[in-house]
Amino acid sequence: MTSLLHINASARGESSQSRAIAKAFIDKLAARRSDLTVDTLDLFETGLPDFGTDAAAAKLAVFTGSEQTPEQAAAWERARQVFDRFAAADIYVLNIPIWNAGVPYIFKQWVDLVTQPGWAFSFDPEVGYTGLLEGKRALTVYTSGVHSPGVPIEFGADFATPFVEDWLRFVGIKDVTEIRFAPTVLTADPQPGFLAAEERARELAGDY
Ligand SMILES: Cc1cc2nc3c(=O)[nH]c(=O)nc-3n(C[C@H](O)[C@H](O)[C@H](O)COP(=O)(O)O)c2cc1C
Repeated sequence: MTSLLHINASARGESSQSRAIAKAFIDKLAARRSDLTVDTLDLFETGLPDFGTDAAAAKLAVFTGSEQTPEQAAAWERARQVFDRFAAADIYVLNIPIWNAGVPYIFKQWVDLVTQPGWAFSFDPEVGYTGLLEGKRALTVYTSGVHSPGVPIEFGADFATPFVEDWLRFVGIKDVTEIRFAPTVLTADPQPGFLAAEERARELAGDY
């Protein structure tokens, strides 16, 4: 069996264009591969645990080798459950609309939950960080309403793409393919760009 985790970071439900492009890939792949199981994580609907005072202290306790309080251990266990669902997959499909030049806050919350020492990465004072999620593949789908690569800064920036690329590398996911549909709003006719992105998604499904 091959397991795919679809991480949907759009808040727009069925109207989401990044989600539709991701689904084009997943539907094509599922039709091609009978061994595929698909887990869908709708970040805005799933009710993620928070990662606040207790969880941050639990993380630092792991780093420093000190004992966690019962509250910290409980927060750590809640994060572990989110991580286990992440780590169970072989293939990741992430659809991420750009929000205020970055990722939607719910995606950052999920990243903060799963990116833990001993789970997603290890650290050695001599060599630095090593990602622990080896042998996985990821497809990233980015959309933005106004920004697109190469536009003047007056049309906004994109810190989402470098952040996600760096985070995937950080946790050890090196085989990453990207699809971008932008701009989704600031264009006379978004439809050709959207259809081309969907088509690219279906094409890429042939490589998985
Ligand atoms: C809260 C919020 C912030 C946004 N910030 C930006 C932005 O900084 N730059 C941009 O080009 N588009 C921005 N947009 C537009 C979305 O990126 C765009 O509508 C995208 O296509 C949405 O993808 P989706 O249909 O998958 O949700 C923003 C939209 C929302 C709701």
